[in-house]
Amino acid sequence: MSRKSWSAVDDYIVGSLFEPDAALDAALAANRREGLPEIDVSAAQGKLLHLLARIGGAKTVLEIGTLGGYSTIWLARAVSAGGKVVTLELEPRHAAVARSNIERAGLGDRVDLRVGPALASLSALQAEGAGPFDFIFIDADKPNNPNYLEWAMKLSRPGTVIVCDNVIRDGAVLHTDGRDANVEGARAAFSFIGKDERLDGTAIQTVGAKGYDGFAIAVVK
Ligand code: SAH
Ligand code: DHB
Ligand code: MG
Repeated sequence: MSRKSWSAVDDYIVGSLFEPDAALDAALAANRREGLPEIDVSAAQGKLLHLLARIGGAKTVLEIGTLGGYSTIWLARAVSAGGKVVTLELEPRHAAVARSNIERAGLGDRVDLRVGPALASLSALQAEGAGPFDFIFIDADKPNNPNYLEWAMKLSRPGTVIVCDNVIRDGAVLHTDGRDANVEGARAAFSFIGKDERLDGTAIQTVGAKGYDGFAIAVVK
């Protein structure tokens, strides 16, 4: 099995199970036009995030790492009309594309996009008394995973679901040489979730249009 067949099966999943989706297609087209890196979640993964949030009845979502807002759109559609997604992005250029993609999808009213280093935005959120969030998606700079997980604990409640992206990285998560900061970040997520008594978690390896990677998923006890 190769990346090509993983991708073909992802196309089959989307073709069989998903409605045509002009807003998501337009978001990916805009991202490409603006030269954003193509590191958004795949459609099948986006829908998994959407379903996890819906299954948990999430009304408030925190996302760390917006890029062009592709995953944000999936998550914003999972919260009910009165719900809210707070999404944090460092790069003003990414944020501008995301804002336009989210507006085009008709979700501007329920998305609060904040530009700047996520750690600063998280402090500001806490100072404002934001949270607890029902669902938290961590998908930004991987070396900060432990810091983001620490913040996730502060901004959560028992039952909050936390998903952390890109924790398998082609299997490189097993590399202990410390040479890849992104792998170290993935391992730090495992170590945090494994050690923290307040969390119960697992990780799921994924293959598909975005290659071989995976999510860590945890619930706050
Ligand atoms: N969740 C998106 C993909 C996010 S890619 C999706 O699936 O569609 C990771 C994003 O995190 C990039 O846009 C990058 O600019 C952003 N990022 C990197 N470091 C950051 C930081 N310190 N604070 C906030 N965002 C950061
Ligand atoms: C990278 C980041 C992501 O969020 C992702 O989904 C894939 C790759 C990266 O920085 O390499
Ligand atoms: Mg990711």
